[in-house]
Amino acid sequence: MANQQNISRADQVKHPRNVERLVSGMATSDGAGVKLTRVLTQPLQRRLDPFLMLDAFLSDDPGDYIGGFPDHPHRGFETVTYMIAGNLRHRDNKGHEGLLQNGGVQWMTAGRGIIHSEMPEQEDGRMEGFQLWLNLPAGDKMCAAWYRDIPAGELPGFVTPEGVAVTVIAGESHGVLGAEVRQRTAPLYLDIHLPAGQSFAQALPAGHNAFVYVYRGEVQVGGSAVPEKKMAILANDAAADGVVLQCKVASRVLLIAGQPLNEPIAQHGPFVMNTQEELYAAVADYQNGKF
Ligand code: CO
Repeated sequence: MANQQNISRADQVKHPRNVERLVSGMATSDGAGVKLTRVLTQPLQRRLDPFLMLDAFLSDDPGDYIGGFPDHPHRGFETVTYMIAGNLRHRDNKGHEGLLQNGGVQWMTAGRGIIHSEMPEQEDGRMEGFQLWLNLPAGDKMCAAWYRDIPAGELPGFVTPEGVAVTVIAGESHGVLGAEVRQRTAPLYLDIHLPAGQSFAQALPAGHNAFVYVYRGEVQVGGSAVPEKKMAILANDAAADGVVLQCKVASRVLLIAGQPLNEPIAQHGPFVMNTQEELYAAVADYQNGKF
């Protein structure tokens, strides 16, 4: 349950964005054989700058997740892991340890380098959650690594008069400030639970890239239906001032938006830098134990 706050102002949206296109994502596996859906894939990194990846994992079968994500490195960006159900133990080589549980968020800034593991602490039951990769500006890619666990009860949230419950993981919604704020990329990350027949409006700066991912139910965005397990990329319309979500059935939606960096993106697996040379340096530093 989120730490509920009062709405200090309702977002008014006069010219809502439309859906540019729907994306199904790609079934894949990562770590030690964890089955997941890569919703935001590498070819969409430019279009959805500053976001680099969104993975959705959902399974009731331990065989799909029990291998977890043993020790692996990251450099050059931030990972935001949001757990809907299940228990995931984080350990890293900077001495951080945390148990990510139902409704909790782990925010990790890999910066110049971190090695961590993310392992399930359950042998049965459901594992459901999301991992979002948020890019760092060129000038911050070599910053010190940073880590924060945010249990569900400490995540800011609010309920609209229509009964829409919103958890504000990052950014600001209806005057409620999220758990984390980033100046340059200005990420907005909302988990929105809409009761049947309700709607929700969120202001968005016209230049920010934005998408929604429906993980329960189905929503209408600007006249387009966005079905369950689909991502809708929202059109960047200079005249638009936000997005309006409407639903007939009870639905749960992630709404994610951010200010593009417009910098070169060079990726080699878990390293995301600006140039090929920086990637060679990342691999060399990792191999030489400099993480
Ligand atoms: Co990782």
